[in-house]
Amino acid sequence: MIVLFLGDVFGKPGRFILERKIQTIILENNVDIIIANGENAAGGIGITPAICKTLFNIGIDVVTSGNHIYKKREIYDYIDNQPRLLKPANYPPGTPGRGYYILSDSKIGANKIAVVNICGRVFIENFDCPFRCMDKILVNIKKETPIIIVDFHAEATSEKVAMGWYLDGRVSALIGTHTHVQTADERILPGGTAYITDVGMVGPRDSVIGVKKENIIERFLKLMPQKFIVAEDDYLINAVLVDIDEKSGKANSIKRINSAVKSDKL
Ligand SMILES: [Fe+2]
Ligand SMILES: [Fe+2]
Repeated sequence: MIVLFLGDVFGKPGRFILERKIQTIILENNVDIIIANGENAAGGIGITPAICKTLFNIGIDVVTSGNHIYKKREIYDYIDNQPRLLKPANYPPGTPGRGYYILSDSKIGANKIAVVNICGRVFIENFDCPFRCMDKILVNIKKETPIIIVDFHAEATSEKVAMGWYLDGRVSALIGTHTHVQTADERILPGGTAYITDVGMVGPRDSVIGVKKENIIERFLKLMPQKFIVAEDDYLINAVLVDIDEKSGKANSIKRINSAVKSDKL
């Protein structure tokens, strides 16, 4: 089974480039299932019901998120009623939405694939322990399927690497998100788990992690608040393709996609 995992989809440019390029990626790589992190899909911060539906219409099967999931209020009810949009499972109890989803679809025959979303704690928010949270979730999921993809939305590379080792052999893939900068450390860990510290971003390339570069440089220079404007120049598609053995749930390979698309070449 081939899973395509797309990095944080950033604003209109992220959606725009996916609409134009996703079919080619699917056909060239025989993709079965598509997962994308959508926490920045609405104007670079948060996600709305309408934008989430757009992502599903593009062909994304499950949308994961992160620390910006609740930025837009209208998502609260929607996420409670849409199991294919995930919140990080280690948000405090009582917050809207679910932290994992078990997908079954004619595209993958009798197989099921579990998608889990968790958030790190280092340099982000005071989430519940993501390690212990995974232990609890895996007890339930393992009864249903050995094919398990985890989006670990975290800032610190050390926390992500540690989670990779913690889950090695227990999940099919541990994919890092949140930094919007793709790392080149993809590998199959000894237990058969595909790992990458950060998959990167789908969005405007000539930017500072998606935001207009001039605004962010000004902020660093003067330490004054700046408008949060989504950049527009050129496009970046960051993703990974994970090939998984359906019986064992172990990963055969993980391959990075790091493709830049010039605006004038579309
Ligand atoms: Fe993000
Ligand atoms: Fe984030």
